[in-house]
Amino acid sequence: MAINLDLKKYIEEKIFPKYEKYYSHGMLHINNVIKNTLLLAEYYNLDENMAYVIASYHDIGLNVNRETHEYESGKFLDNDSELKKYFNSEQIKIMKEAVEDHRGSRKEEPRNIYGKILSDSDRDFDIEVLAKRQLATSLKNYPELTTFDEHFERCYQYMLKRINTSGKFNLWTNNPIIIEQRNKFETDYLNKEFAKSVYEKEWNRIKNDGTMDKIINYYEDY
Ligand SMILES: [Fe+2]
Ligand SMILES: [Fe+2]
Repeated sequence: MAINLDLKKYIEEKIFPKYEKYYSHGMLHINNVIKNTLLLAEYYNLDENMAYVIASYHDIGLNVNRETHEYESGKFLDNDSELKKYFNSEQIKIMKEAVEDHRGSRKEEPRNIYGKILSDSDRDFDIEVLAKRQLATSLKNYPELTTFDEHFERCYQYMLKRINTSGKFNLWTNNPIIIEQRNKFETDYLNKEFAKSVYEKEWNRIKNDGTMDKIINYYEDY
């Protein structure tokens, strides 16, 4: 099954531009999440249009507040009357709940399978991508931290909380491709000295090329 072309056109023209002033949650991130969500939708035989919508809308509320962005994004999806042309109210409810349950810091299992595939698609199982995104989020949300060491420590401890009781970075689904990415990432990340060197390289890059300043003063996502 392919994604409905009219739905795709609507999202590309009206939703994606809303991510223009987002940095760590910009289109690079959204496209990665779309790719993973569609992979998992296919693996679990789910509706690809629904998968495409949840991935496209999941972080849209980040200009309001980081701590409640999943609910802001869910509300936005629920209020978008254009989606009613393609989905019934039960499907919209499932998609809203999936978006609300996507955060990696969440301990409770997402309420439906779409929430599980979205949450797992949203993980950055690539240390360089994670370093880039996590440092930006830290700069934006923790202005009281001033040094690289302080930001790195906060980022590192935050990620460690995502390790579950089996000692693995938590996943709700069991697709072998995503599990393989997780395992490789685990090896990289749990080597703290290596992780720190990757983060430090990224820190120096954004500090010297003006990106750090833009993250704080220009980009709108928290
Ligand atoms: Fe998010
Ligand atoms: Fe995200």
